[in-house]
Amino acid sequence: MAATIKLVLGDSTKELKTLPDNSVDLIITSPPYADQRKSTYGGIAADKYVKWFLPISKELLRVLKPTGTFVLNIKEKVVEGERSTYVMELIIEMRNQGWLWTEEFIWHKKNSYPGKWPNRFRDSWERLLQFNKDKKFHMYQEEVMVPMGDWAKTRLKNLSKTDKIRDNSKVGSGFGKNISNWVNRDKAYPSNVLHLATECNNKNHSAAFPEELPEWFIKLFTKEGDTVLDPFAGSGTSLSVSKRMNRNSIGIELLPEYYNEMVTTLGISPTIKKKNGTKSLAKNH
Ligand SMILES: C[S@@+](CC[C@H](N)C(=O)[O-])C[C@H]1O[C@@H](n2cnc3c(N)ncnc32)[C@H](O)[C@@H]1O
Repeated sequence: MAATIKLVLGDSTKELKTLPDNSVDLIITSPPYADQRKSTYGGIAADKYVKWFLPISKELLRVLKPTGTFVLNIKEKVVEGERSTYVMELIIEMRNQGWLWTEEFIWHKKNSYPGKWPNRFRDSWERLLQFNKDKKFHMYQEEVMVPMGDWAKTRLKNLSKTDKIRDNSKVGSGFGKNISNWVNRDKAYPSNVLHLATECNNKNHSAAFPEELPEWFIKLFTKEGDTVLDPFAGSGTSLSVSKRMNRNSIGIELLPEYYNEMVTTLGISPTIKKKNGTKSLAKNH
């Protein structure tokens, strides 16, 4: 069966309430960052960010299946010479709300602009915070394996004595590794750093995801027929990639210009106007 797309024009704070409990397999999104892009789609002040986001994350916790995953792309800015702490405060409050902060991936932006700042270097990474409801969630690790590459020729060629036995973690984490297990293998599991270029030039949105970003997480955390939600859909990258990968998707977007653009680019049926003319819903099969 072909994947469905449900697109909602409106504020996620309100619209998420219309989605059923435990119905989504993956939430992947990039909300407005604090104090950024005020001229396009508004920005929330850093000191008000946690208060603004918590009612949204409460709804996300409700709609996510217990086996599902939430990937939140976010990055704190510099305010008066210091990094803002709102992302850290948000993580702590989301944990209090019931989320598990399972992992943090780094998006290394390969093509960040060069520049010169008096007291820091150019910002070329963003956070991809992984949250779950339960310690046991669906994760299809084999889907994102990478070629073994130079490791096969360098590190794995010269194994030491400890490389040939299980080397248990010195910090007592219970983790361990036996490097010799990887000799003669073509593929390895990737690291938690994603090296991807930003991709805004060919989209009518100033903060669009590169397609490989949602694609990687969709492969890792869902299978065909599953449902992906992006509550800050923007240009609809998460939705178009979901469609291509045969996953159902739901997108919510506040601004009519982005919403209308998505109706066109995603090729979904024309907007059904509600009586008050402000909200619309379109579905595609
Ligand atoms: C960083 S952009 C997302 C870009 C998206 N990942 C893409 O690939 O195009 C954030 C989007 O959230 C929308 N937005 C801001 N506040 C919102 C809200 N309360 N509810 C729904 N959408 C909102 C903005 O209009 C903007 O398009």
